[in-house]
Amino acid sequence: MFNSFFAGTGHYVPERIITNEYLSTLMDTNDAWIVERTGIKERRWFEKGKDTVANMAAKASQKALANAGIEASDIDFIVFATITPDYYFPGSGVLLQRELGLANIPALDIRNQCTGFVYAVSVADQFIKSGMYKNVLVVGAEIQSSALDISTEGRGMAVIFGDGAGAVVMRRSENAESRVLASKLYADGRFAEELILKDPGSSRPFRQLDDLAANMEDTRPYMNGNQVFKHAVHRFPEVTLDILAENGFQKEDLDLLVPHQANLRITRYIQEKLQLPEEKVVSNIERYGNTTAASIPIALSEAFEQGRLKPGMLVCLTAFGSGFTWGANLLKW
Ligand SMILES: CC(C)(COP(=O)(O)OP(=O)(O)OC[C@H]1O[C@@H](n2cnc3c(N)ncnc32)[C@H](O)[C@@H]1OP(=O)(O)O)[C@@H](O)C(=O)NCCC(=O)NCCS
Repeated sequence: MFNSFFAGTGHYVPERIITNEYLSTLMDTNDAWIVERTGIKERRWFEKGKDTVANMAAKASQKALANAGIEASDIDFIVFATITPDYYFPGSGVLLQRELGLANIPALDIRNQCTGFVYAVSVADQFIKSGMYKNVLVVGAEIQSSALDISTEGRGMAVIFGDGAGAVVMRRSENAESRVLASKLYADGRFAEELILKDPGSSRPFRQLDDLAANMEDTRPYMNGNQVFKHAVHRFPEVTLDILAENGFQKEDLDLLVPHQANLRITRYIQEKLQLPEEKVVSNIERYGNTTAASIPIALSEAFEQGRLKPGMLVCLTAFGSGFTWGANLLKW
């Protein structure tokens, strides 16, 4: 059996910076509330006509490829995590394949919300382990700002979510040192409606446009913030401690935790629970908000650029999100 390792990382975020001050001109909110409850100071929103989920993913991928020292033509499989594809179908995986000029390689779309990237890494790892593929491009990219309700009614979500893309090149490794050690994935569909975007959903009768306009709320995401918070602070530390223990490690052995950037209060809670010093936890939510499937690869790419990732380090990626879904990947960098 082969192993997989992370050979290169990259990210891209739209240039347009949306500050808390700007949001307070659109809705009844303020910088103090947003910073205190979420830790977010600004986020990026896409620019119409310039940014798409697929082209942001391509920019992040080009950086990851350069970082890995391979060409796009070396990629033999794309795994693309997003909940905000450019089209309802086809998914953004094929659009990324087209952007990169790659003929006929398979592209798989993953829809596991904020846990999407963790699921995507586990899928890529399995395909590499089985010997089927050698060089897999694993991407998380989102444009969420276009679906947000930016009136006071939608402020609970509008202040949290942002746009961006991150990518990782995962390669086959015959050296057992640097590798993905394990993945743990979970889901609990009983809570599907606690964080949801209903339309365009298939299980309701066809609606006329007028009808759709009258039911705009179903085309906007809904979040039961308190319920999500309660589950997240339980599941994040639980899955992190479990994956460490099951692989023979203790929390003290962890060199870097890269949590999905859900909310700074959630990250601080995990940090406290695992008794990790600040330098062992990656946090960039202050600048990007919650970018769902893109948050972990963006954070990982920034951590790499900052020299925080060194060979041999024990690294854990951990996430929780809509579904509910949650999980973790444990790596030797
Ligand atoms: C969304 C979240 C920040 C809300 O924080 P909270 O402390 O639970 O706040 P509440 O929803 O109880 O609202 C408290 C008050 O602030 C108000 N409020 C909500 N959003 C606001 C905003 N953007 N600006 C100002 N006030 C706001 C509410 O209307 C409420 O007012 P009231 O007391 O007069 O009714 C919090 O629940 C959370 O972080 N949840 C998890 C979100 C998450 O991580 N999602 C992604 C999962 S992957």
